Amino acid sequence: MAKSKTVFVCSECGYESGKWLGKCPACNSWNSFYEQKVVETKNNGFSQSNGKVVNPQSLNSYEAKETIRTHTGFNELDRVLGGGLVKGSLVLLGGEPGIGKSTLILQICDKIKDDGKVLYVSGEESAEQIKLRADRLGINNEDILFLGETNIELVNQAILNVNPKLVIIDSIQTMFSEEITAAAGSVSQVREITSQVMRVCKSKGITTIIIGHVTKEGNIAGPRVLEHMVDTVLYLEGERYFSYRILRGVKNRFGSTNEIGMFEMQDKGMCEITNPSDILISERDDNPAGSCVIATMEGTRPLLVELQALTSQTVFGYPRRAANGIDYNRLTLLIAVLEKKAGMMLNSQDVYLNVVSGLKVNEPAADLGIMMVTASSFKNVPIPKDMIILGEVGLTGEVRRINLIEKRLKEAEKLGFKSCLIPESNKKDLKDNYKLDIIGIRNVNEAMKKIGLK
Ligand code: TYD
Ligand code: MG
Repeated sequence: MAKSKTVFVCSECGYESGKWLGKCPACNSWNSFYEQKVVETKNNGFSQSNGKVVNPQSLNSYEAKETIRTHTGFNELDRVLGGGLVKGSLVLLGGEPGIGKSTLILQICDKIKDDGKVLYVSGEESAEQIKLRADRLGINNEDILFLGETNIELVNQAILNVNPKLVIIDSIQTMFSEEITAAAGSVSQVREITSQVMRVCKSKGITTIIIGHVTKEGNIAGPRVLEHMVDTVLYLEGERYFSYRILRGVKNRFGSTNEIGMFEMQDKGMCEITNPSDILISERDDNPAGSCVIATMEGTRPLLVELQALTSQTVFGYPRRAANGIDYNRLTLLIAVLEKKAGMMLNSQDVYLNVVSGLKVNEPAADLGIMMVTASSFKNVPIPKDMIILGEVGLTGEVRRINLIEKRLKEAEKLGFKSCLIPESNKKDLKDNYKLDIIGIRNVNEAMKKIGLK
């Protein structure tokens, strides 16, 4: 009798190994391997030949069908999708538990502008729970059908019977297939289920949205292992204690992945934010030291965000640095440049830096803002409230060129800012006229003098 084969699979990223490993060499997670039987699936993709001899043809001889897009009812979501939900596509929506995925999707089921039924399959919540949520969101829609089922073979039958325009699978980790012995939520289960749903829905031209949880602990297979199979991958992100949510496109076969959508979780569900900069800087204090506004790019969209810094005398020998929303190492590097190139001695100061509203800023274009806001707190000199600060800073204290400067300036102008510090090299290339007072800066010392910090 043939020996049954097993492999060890990482539950985080799907890496396979012949033996058990403590640490995954692919994603570096610990203790994530579990043993699994090897299952051979016959058809895992789009074989169009059905066993006949295949005959490749010139690509030019094919005609591309026009993609039909449906308005989802949320402009922010349409933007991330590249102009609407493409008919027949498979979308994966990932995010941490409790972030608002089911809420957003239920609202889409109601608002989507397309004739036909929506089939909402939930393995997580009962019909009563979903109904309760729908009532709370003010949804009363005859076209939304509910199915509380976790067996994917039965779900597929229901899809074929109903032939809806949109299918929701909430969530992929709760579904299981009888063909596979592994537990629900394991890598082989989520892969098999996705390929089954894909086969059924693609053959009928039904649009599908699959919800997947992402957990830090990694005890269930995350959406990561599915990213290569689906057409579009979206992640809903946000901080637990802030109401803002960012919808980010990670992969999109029908559009760019440069776009984000902004939402706010309110008591009536998710609401889109059309003027994010306005909201992000609306709670600024009157003119305190240690606060400034920068313009950061999220994809192709400029966002104005407030940076805050606090410096205070170190009590113990070793000064503390804490960064919230920016990279810790970047902060320590910029403090070192401030010390060496601007002569600002911060070695007996604790430095705390915060990006207001729980956003994350990873761009070097925030460098000059971070340095100026730190210096402003240290000197107790406020930065003018209507000034915006842009620029990357090098190790010799020089202020370097940043990208997409025109978009950032336009956004600042729109929100009523009066002046802007930008890199001198950027200023030379500006074509449009601005109402802003644009001040070109070559190095950190020049910027400090302009603000009155030196
Ligand atoms: P949910 O959509 O269930 O999250 P997920 O499907 O991503 O796990 O959202 C759950 C949270 O959202 C819950 O903590 C309550 C909150 N919520 C609101 O703040 N307002 C609302 O209108 C709804 C329906 C939920
Ligand atoms: Mg949910």
